[in-house]
Amino acid sequence: MIDERTILRTYRKRFGHEAQLLARAPGRVNLIGEHTDYNGGFVLPIAIDRDVAIAAAETRESTVRIYSVQFDETVEIPLSYEGVVPLPGTWASYVLGVMREFQLRGYTLPSLTAVIDGDVPLGAGLSSSAALEVATAALLDAMVAAGMDGRTLALLAQDAENGPCVGMQCGIMDQFISANARIGRALQLDCHSLQADYIRFAEDAPTVVILDSGRQRGLVDSEYNQRRAECTVALSALRTAGGEDFPTLRHVPADMLERHASSLDPIVARRARHAITENGRVHDFADAIQEGDWTRAGRRLLQSHASLRDDYQVSCPELDWIVEHAMQIDGVHGCRMTGAGFGGSAVALAEERAIPALSGTMADRYAAEFGRALTVYTTHPAPGAHVSVIATPTPEMV
Ligand code: GLA
Repeated sequence: MIDERTILRTYRKRFGHEAQLLARAPGRVNLIGEHTDYNGGFVLPIAIDRDVAIAAAETRESTVRIYSVQFDETVEIPLSYEGVVPLPGTWASYVLGVMREFQLRGYTLPSLTAVIDGDVPLGAGLSSSAALEVATAALLDAMVAAGMDGRTLALLAQDAENGPCVGMQCGIMDQFISANARIGRALQLDCHSLQADYIRFAEDAPTVVILDSGRQRGLVDSEYNQRRAECTVALSALRTAGGEDFPTLRHVPADMLERHASSLDPIVARRARHAITENGRVHDFADAIQEGDWTRAGRRLLQSHASLRDDYQVSCPELDWIVEHAMQIDGVHGCRMTGAGFGGSAVALAEERAIPALSGTMADRYAAEFGRALTVYTTHPAPGAHVSVIATPTPEMV
């Protein structure tokens, strides 16, 4: 987590007055339910104890000035800004995307100065971009007194990511968990109805371990959008074959898919098989963690990985290697790739005693095999986005 005093000090040094508000939003790790959100299915993420923080204050200037500590870069946006995209592909495009969504919803944005910092690793599949979008949305919500709830903030942040400033056709999972996470709880989200069920993580639950492959998710956007397109093809073919107007792939029964699989393009059938069967694994995993049956929970993680590797084809040699080798360590219940895939991280449920071997011997062997570091973090279910009032505005500030 970004240290509050440090970011407030950076703000004061850079802008010469106190920040008024501090908005924070966490990254996430998805335990199970991958590539199901945009198919109307179920996901089960937790927020992690790493976040994006934004210290900000309203000003009387005619520009919005935002400094990123991580990139050591300042971006200035004229207050007359009307949704243009000056910096596609950069950190600022996420901020601009959120500003644009507020403007599209009829809010008049204030002029402001802000400092942004974060410790969610970038490109590691832990949703640093969703954290930035949600922190920005929470900040602007407080500044314009919009009173949006967590669900509305998440949908606005998703629109920002889908819109022209960013252009990634993501589902709702990352923004939803960042805005709505609860401490000590995993979130089982029905991405069709947005019904959120919080699942308590028992005190004696195994540790959630993140294994960052160090392989940046290179081709992810184009491959991701291609998987989405293949799922759309699968849904329309299955509607025709089954003579039923299924709202999403999640509504297609698995046995119906199998009856019609041979009439579909083989690749499309495999994509649909993953998207449909993953939902059952989410439910069984949720039951298993509530019953404290870690062996069963671990088995579901492995099945999810196999389905993502073989049917959805979004894994990579590094992630397969991590899963295979983690499972050879005593005390690891299960492991799978997490997030969009093609690099990024794996997640494991492991007993404390397994952690030295994961971050020691296994990481050394990984470095020898792939020539890059394996970074191992432990985490626990952290709270979602929140905004604190640091100082009330004085006449000099506004
Ligand atoms: C990315 C997207 C999410 C989700 C996952 C895959 O993280 O942003 O919406 O689709 O990939 O489960």
